[in-house]
Amino acid sequence: MVGVCRERSVGKLDGFKGHITVIPGATNDREVIKKAVEGCDGVLTVLVPWGVHQYSSGTVQAVLDYARPGARLIFSCGWHITRDGQDVYSRTFILGVKAIGWIARMLRAVDIDDQVEACRRIFSSNTRWTVVRGSDLEEGESQGLPVWSRHVGDPVLASNITRRVDFALFMVAALENDELIHEAPAIVGCRTPSALAIKTGS
Ligand SMILES: NC(=O)c1ccc[n+]([C@@H]2O[C@H](COP(=O)([O-])OP(=O)(O)OC[C@H]3O[C@@H](n4cnc5c(N)ncnc54)[C@H](OP(=O)(O)O)[C@@H]3O)[C@@H](O)[C@H]2O)c1
Repeated sequence: MVGVCRERSVGKLDGFKGHITVIPGATNDREVIKKAVEGCDGVLTVLVPWGVHQYSSGTVQAVLDYARPGARLIFSCGWHITRDGQDVYSRTFILGVKAIGWIARMLRAVDIDDQVEACRRIFSSNTRWTVVRGSDLEEGESQGLPVWSRHVGDPVLASNITRRVDFALFMVAALENDELIHEAPAIVGCRTPSALAIKTGS
């Protein structure tokens, strides 16, 4: 197994020494990605909109260009990404995304539009991709595999919260779930009230 993280974060992975090869570097560095994905059957990519230097789209392009043909490619992003325009967002959600985008642009800290562009490139690629769209996140022990829907606005997602560890669990499970190829599942914790309500039919 191979992982890429920034030089300053290498120490955080000390606990995995001997189990994974860590390549220090930025994920939008094409040479770093080329080396990291060589020979891999699956690639998990966290898309972060940090900075205003096409970090997300640069990362995606490198993964699309260098992952071996036929590899399973799993990407993470948030509910704000829409694949087919069929997602239904609450007014609060839209205002929240707009506010974050505006503040971030002022601070030149985050570029949400670049995450949108990154996903556009994934959706139009002919690779075996899945884009996992996360709800709000919280810390804590795993509750199990999140439930998902094709569209935001589905009542099952109403609780809008997932444990961070379960977001990762869903991405790893997607590697072996071919039903998720060319899907952009929006996820929510399996023990949240909205997920439980649908399960019990209440
Ligand atoms: N936070 C939420 O509430 C939320 C909600 C919905 C969806 N998501 C999605 O979940 C995923 C993870 O989000 P997150 O909030 O957990 O991300 P995060 O903690 O802010 O960052 C994730 C990784 O991005 C890298 N990173 C952090 N700052 C950076 C910078 N300035 N420049 C370059 N790389 C930087 C770090 O990697 P290194 O290991 O290299 O340091 C870090 O481990 C994303 O795809 C996001 O869209 C998050």
